[in-house]
Amino acid sequence: MKAIICTKYGAPEVLQIRQVEKPTPKDDEVLIKIYATAVTASDIFIRSSNVPIQVLIPMRIMLGLWKPRKSIIGLVLAGEIESIGKDIKKFKIGDQVYGLTGFGLGAYAEYKCMKENDSTYGCLTIKPTNISYEEATVAAYGGLLAFQSLEKGNIQPGQNVLIYGASGTSGTIAIQLAKYLGAKVTGVCSTTNLALVKSLGADDVIDYTKVDTLDPNVQYDFILDAVGKMKTSKLKKACKKALAPKGKYVSIDDEKLMLDSKRLDSIKEVIEAGHIKPIIDKCYSFEDIVEAHRYVEKGHKKGGVAILINKKE
Ligand SMILES: NC(=O)c1ccc[n+]([C@@H]2O[C@H](COP(=O)([O-])OP(=O)(O)OC[C@H]3O[C@@H](n4cnc5c(N)ncnc54)[C@H](OP(=O)(O)O)[C@@H]3O)[C@@H](O)[C@H]2O)c1
Repeated sequence: MKAIICTKYGAPEVLQIRQVEKPTPKDDEVLIKIYATAVTASDIFIRSSNVPIQVLIPMRIMLGLWKPRKSIIGLVLAGEIESIGKDIKKFKIGDQVYGLTGFGLGAYAEYKCMKENDSTYGCLTIKPTNISYEEATVAAYGGLLAFQSLEKGNIQPGQNVLIYGASGTSGTIAIQLAKYLGAKVTGVCSTTNLALVKSLGADDVIDYTKVDTLDPNVQYDFILDAVGKMKTSKLKKACKKALAPKGKYVSIDDEKLMLDSKRLDSIKEVIEAGHIKPIIDKCYSFEDIVEAHRYVEKGHKKGGVAILINKKE
């Protein structure tokens, strides 16, 4: 099968397409024919190893000192079950699935074996029926990040919610989820993304490239920093001061990404009910992986960036 190998840590060019052996599922594994993967913020961190020094050492110990121990990287997949081991109960051949591969990585390939139960090596479930495979990659990664972060807010109808970084993979899902929960939602993004964030249901939008302060008469019951601690602005600092006395501020980086197929099932339900639509910025072919990484590394994707793999007949 074809796979993208990360030959060492470095620039996007370290990614190379190679022929490798197609995996065979063990008794407790399924074999997934992958139709779409994604270039996520996590893939960029893993490939480039360009992270703050306090994160670099633990990350290298976990992933490999000089190059990723798992040479096929990639964290997100959507595809079809091609074969199953004899102990598999949850899935059958032909099921359309989506999920994350966790420490197993390996989604930058035509096929991947995974266990049916959640672990640090991934989580997998049936994909929402009303979205494409590429949209499912956004639902998996952005969905898990947004849902786990918003669940901490216990958001009630009518509450004031601010999503900082509303235009990214998790931000675009967070806006829609907060609206679905009945909140009055303000999205913070740059000028080019104001219309997108409005179209996702935001009641108000604020342009962090033009505005440094917030209305002193408005307080927020819940604020989510959906871009993470490495990206900031004067407005982001002002947001923290606009929290209501019993309000909650959560950064998407506060807690590790939970690999939870039950949460993927909840995401599927909300998507199938039409409350959330995953946003795709661009789709690239497998062969254009270097270009896709270059694009995502700039830090301005709107929604998610997908890589199309096996072509669906
Ligand atoms: N907790 C975990 O285990 C875990 C796991 C994975 C990722 N994360 C975190 O999640 C973050 C978000 O990932 P993601 O893929 O959802 O985001 P993303 O899609 O990479 O975010 C891109 C978006 O961020 C916006 N942006 C860039 N700089 C900004 C700034 N200073 N202020 C406001 N918006 C800004 C860009 O809009 P403009 O072009 O308009 O600026 C762009 O639309 C990652 O960076 C990482 O920190 C955490």
